[in-house]
Amino acid sequence: MTAMPALAPRLNGIHASPASVLRRRARELRAAGRDIIELSSGNLDLATPDHVIAAAHAAALRGETRYTDVDGTPELKQAVRAALLRNHHLSYAQDEIVICNGSTQALFNALLATLAQAEEVIIPAPYWAPYLDQVRLCGGVPVPVLCSQNNGFKLRPDDLKAAITPRTRWLIINNPVNPSGAVYRRDELAEIAAVLEQHPGVWILADGLYEEIVFDADCAPTLAEVAPRLKPRTLTVSGVAKTYAMMGWRVGYGVGPAALIREMVKIQSQTTSCASSISQAAAVAAIDGPQDWLRERASVLRGKRDRLVDLVNDCTGLACVAPEGTFYLLVSCAGVVGKHSPDGRQIATDRDFAAYLLEYADVAVFPGEDFGLSPYLRVSFANPQSVLEDAGRRLKRACERLQ
Ligand SMILES: Cc1ncc(COP(=O)(O)O)c(C=O)c1O
Repeated sequence: MTAMPALAPRLNGIHASPASVLRRRARELRAAGRDIIELSSGNLDLATPDHVIAAAHAAALRGETRYTDVDGTPELKQAVRAALLRNHHLSYAQDEIVICNGSTQALFNALLATLAQAEEVIIPAPYWAPYLDQVRLCGGVPVPVLCSQNNGFKLRPDDLKAAITPRTRWLIINNPVNPSGAVYRRDELAEIAAVLEQHPGVWILADGLYEEIVFDADCAPTLAEVAPRLKPRTLTVSGVAKTYAMMGWRVGYGVGPAALIREMVKIQSQTTSCASSISQAAAVAAIDGPQDWLRERASVLRGKRDRLVDLVNDCTGLACVAPEGTFYLLVSCAGVVGKHSPDGRQIATDRDFAAYLLEYADVAVFPGEDFGLSPYLRVSFANPQSVLEDAGRRLKRACERLQ
């Protein structure tokens, strides 16, 4: 056997994202003939709207098939400016906006542009898992801060205060929160901002990817609108993936001080050149086009949320409350931990339970451990009603079979 040349030490301890691993496993099981229900996916069960697809087609036919400016097309940057005014009353100049290949790239470029070796990034837990490995890849140290269910899975100002050290470089605040669906209110963000005002060396990364998937408002608030004094050190990140069901189009953006954006653009110029020209044209149509269907979509999702909450709470050992945003439930599975599966294996952790559900019920869900909070499961309700009913029956039966 030929030995493989060495890999970089910076990858030690870095993992493939849990989502990519589970997606592959579900696909393999399906290929083997299993009828897997994926309640794990970060995809909406909706197609991208027709007018958005038509705009992409038209752009391609018009010849918009070349590299765009590294920081995005002027049209899309203008659309993003308008969206920030509409949703958050925030005003930004063109040089304070960068369009990226999904908000994932905006997050990574910001961390790469700012983190020195061993600097710390505070990440409220539960969290979107890639934050941690992105920080590590940039040489930083992720510092998760536990946000328990008693606090609505939200960061308490005192806990933030206690976590800040001289090495803290960022706080990442995600609103609404993936995976809990919690939505920070304006007054809660203001309390967090009051702590940050005492620490001028800390950047704030406000990830609002699910901001327009909320059930009691049109849009979740973001930190820079609540605390204008922090705007010069806040990077607001969002994208079209979840709002417009455009997960695969890969368009996101970062908005913040021009000096930071310039460095992020520099990194992008050397790594990916620009986001897809055709996807950017599609994103303009999405952001500038009709928005009324978003409310209808929220009302459909709310119905699915309520139904899945009922189905889950009907399972012995599981419990959850209805989230105010996103399309995920964070389900406590404390009541099944310690039980045994029919073949005698003990369910010692949420990971064991998720593995049991995949094995015995053909239902794929994420263990809370992947999001930094146990014992929980993250369960998506962005699925057709019939699939949710079927999943509910399978979950109930799987819980009943435990001893
Ligand atoms: C909280 C959060 N932030 C960022 C992202 C990245 O989204 P995208 O790169 O598709 O814009 C995701 C994706 O699921 C997410 O859940």
